[in-house]
Amino acid sequence: METVVSGIRPTGNLHLGNYFGAMQNFVKMQSEYNSFFFIADYHSLTTHPTPEDLHGNVKKVLVEYLACGIDPEKATLYIQSDLPETAELYLLLNMNAYMGELERVTTFKEKAKKQPQNVNAGLLTYPSLMAADIIIHKANKVPVGKDQEQHLEMTRTFARRFNRMYKVQFFPEPEAFNFGATLVKIPGLDGSGKMGKSEGEGNAIFLADEPNVIKKKVMRAVSDAGPTVPNSIKPEPIENLFSLLRVMSTADTVEYFEAKYNSCEIRYGDLKKQLVEDIVKFTEPLRERIKELSSDDKYLGKVAAMGAEKAHDSGAKNIKDVREIIGFRKF
Ligand code: TRP
Repeated sequence: METVVSGIRPTGNLHLGNYFGAMQNFVKMQSEYNSFFFIADYHSLTTHPTPEDLHGNVKKVLVEYLACGIDPEKATLYIQSDLPETAELYLLLNMNAYMGELERVTTFKEKAKKQPQNVNAGLLTYPSLMAADIIIHKANKVPVGKDQEQHLEMTRTFARRFNRMYKVQFFPEPEAFNFGATLVKIPGLDGSGKMGKSEGEGNAIFLADEPNVIKKKVMRAVSDAGPTVPNSIKPEPIENLFSLLRVMSTADTVEYFEAKYNSCEIRYGDLKKQLVEDIVKFTEPLRERIKELSSDDKYLGKVAAMGAEKAHDSGAKNIKDVREIIGFRKF
């Protein structure tokens, strides 16, 4: 069975974009692959070196992964720092990672620009930590978005380099796992681009948002004065509202508003009200499950412990082999 690894940094709640873009696919994958899903708490320190509530943020993601249907019996759901062997592999990979190649990484350049007062070594070596996460389980596939492709290319470089330097065929070269046609893009509410937490307050609808918050965000979503020519092409903010409608509402509802749009009779207030209703209905079970899980620290503790153990079974064995290969041996 092929191995899949994916991680998420604990820097906020999951939104509808995460749900349709990743979570739904993770849930499918967990039955078909040897799957590792982890919460990248080490990585979060590269941008938040003194996190205010690291544990609370990790808990949020753990709760939301479970609420979305990740089954800790099927997948290995763990917290990155619970597998400290990751840090050992990271150290070893760093010995063969070059300043030049690390400095060329786009996300590094962007983050360095964003936090010029804190261009730390962790930020520079983000790709070697990410590579460690992936190859520690000898993963074949990594389900990530386009923005992570360069990191994945680096992972392949590091895996190949290790194999070559130590004359072994140890690490597979993992490939990006694009979920193909099933990937649903969720636009944000600010009129352009996709839903994302970093695009500013109000652009994303979080799975944990209460109905009144959903209402406020949707009613404030960018729209325009409405079409004046029948059957006109929709400008981006309007197309985005319809995209959301297509995901969240019934085909009849979509058809109804399409017709209203095409005859220039559309009232965006009505469309938004409908959207609010359908989003609230859709997220209801998730919201409930999130609440339930959040108050069950005992269960969360069990899940985390089980994940740590399973991750360790896989990772520690591979690290033992790596140590052998490099030449760290017992006397
Ligand atoms: N860099 C990824 C992101 O920002 C998170 C991540 C860390 C990751 N380690 C990983 C993703 C390993 C996949 C595999 O989205």
